[in-house]
Amino acid sequence: MSEESKALSIVVIGASGDLARKKIFPALFALYSQGMLPAHVRIFGFSRSKMTDETFRKCITEHLTCRYVPGESCQEHMDGFLDRCFYMSGQYDSRDAFLDLYQVMQREEGALPANRVFYLAIPPSIFLDVAQALGGAGLVQCGISDPWSRVVIEKPFGRDRSSSDLLVQQMGDVFREAQTFRIDHYLGKEVIQNLMVLRFANLVFEPLWNRKYIKSVQISWKEDLSVEGRGGYFDGYGIIRDVMQNHLLQIMSIVAMEPCTKMDAGHICNEKVKVVRQIPALTLDDLVVGQYTAADWKGTYYNGYLEDEMVPNDSITPTFAAAALTIDNDRWRGVPFLIRAGKGLECRTTEIRIQFRHANKSMYAALGADHSPNELVIRVQPDESIMLTVANKVPGMGMKIERTQLDLRYQEAFEEIIPDAYESLMLDVIRGDKSLFIRKDELGAAWDIFTPVLKQLETEGIAPEPYAFGSHGPKAADALAQKYGVTWA
Ligand SMILES: NC(=O)c1ccc[n+]([C@@H]2O[C@H](COP(=O)([O-])OP(=O)(O)OC[C@H]3O[C@@H](n4cnc5c(N)ncnc54)[C@H](OP(=O)(O)O)[C@@H]3O)[C@@H](O)[C@H]2O)c1
Repeated sequence: MSEESKALSIVVIGASGDLARKKIFPALFALYSQGMLPAHVRIFGFSRSKMTDETFRKCITEHLTCRYVPGESCQEHMDGFLDRCFYMSGQYDSRDAFLDLYQVMQREEGALPANRVFYLAIPPSIFLDVAQALGGAGLVQCGISDPWSRVVIEKPFGRDRSSSDLLVQQMGDVFREAQTFRIDHYLGKEVIQNLMVLRFANLVFEPLWNRKYIKSVQISWKEDLSVEGRGGYFDGYGIIRDVMQNHLLQIMSIVAMEPCTKMDAGHICNEKVKVVRQIPALTLDDLVVGQYTAADWKGTYYNGYLEDEMVPNDSITPTFAAAALTIDNDRWRGVPFLIRAGKGLECRTTEIRIQFRHANKSMYAALGADHSPNELVIRVQPDESIMLTVANKVPGMGMKIERTQLDLRYQEAFEEIIPDAYESLMLDVIRGDKSLFIRKDELGAAWDIFTPVLKQLETEGIAPEPYAFGSHGPKAADALAQKYGVTWA
């Protein structure tokens, strides 16, 4: 039986939350309005907040956009979409509540066999309660195929290697690994999806993509926001667990992995796991942690991290971290991968910067040419782009050489709408493509890099270096980069 002729029930647990309202429902609407969901799709919201179907639909509508269906037909698409949305309230650990939900689902699925997606858009502390209640209510009765049921979970997956392993094992009692889609939404971003294409489908990069020609790699994630009412959650995790162990390490693994013999989820994951396992555990010598303090920035006063009402006033949770990682293999031995992530910084950007080695014995040295090395900059957000700095003769008489940029800006180069990461990832879940999701062995290997240093930071009570909100971060991060002969961009 074709997938199109089956029902598809998408259950969003934690439907009243930010992630569900701002990302998941808009992504589902984007897919629906492009005709990418099966005809018999139904969407069920579940959380504790009491709402009628009508209020739920109103609440969803706030964040739906007409990007893919501009003009008059948008309303028609929205009506069609909202007609397929239903809401049930209940406690997360209540089998009975999920039995009630099951009845509504069966009513809507009718006699058709139904594939099911369970999206757990809830804090990880209740993942297990929900999984067990879902299992107990018989909602996960179908398995990995025909009809299938799948679960989607968001990081953080545990706080360290052992809590992550435990979560994997306990969730595994309800959902098999093949049914489990661990999202890292950075992998769904257009530029990150392009990384492998850029590396492996262009002859000009792959031969240079190694220690002989690359001097350093920087991966930076900067946010010019405070923890903004999420202080309670953030303080329990900190920037290393919230951004570095997942988003930055995932990006690094794609920058550094070997080519796959086959483009499928299994082969891609195998290569990513292989390279992540070749990264030695991070030590305190190669880590700088910081915490933002109050400051006037661009005419506005910003509270420091410790002033957030959800944060204990003696918290040593880092809001900034910079680390130098290495990879112990023939391609990368000796090349520093400098990664940093911070909140309350001077801008919002995520980018990868590949710095090539200096061109030796330049014929043009005597001309006093600009000898800064070639750099390839891949900007993930906000303005997706790929830039390559090259030496160029400045037009005019004489021979003046300067570095200039070959600049590919997505907004200008492509007419297509750039999909939100959640749109492509939701579609992958429905199609069963796990290439952009984190496998359990990859998760374990990622925690192995950071768990020892996280333990040390906490047991030794190491205080983060303060930095003013809106600044470039702690000074010690510059010294860390300089230790490896690198200057942060
Ligand atoms: N927001 C994002 O952009 C984002 C990005 C990456 C990852 N994530 C992850 O995705 C998940 C959901 O994110 P979110 O921002 O939507 O979270 P959230 O708003 O804090 O929580 C989602 C819903 O869960 C329920 N809830 C919250 N705290 C609870 C608690 N302590 N016990 C029981 N129920 C609770 C609430 O619904 P009711 O009170 O109605 O039950 C809430 O509306 C989290 O794991 C988060 O780490 C979020």
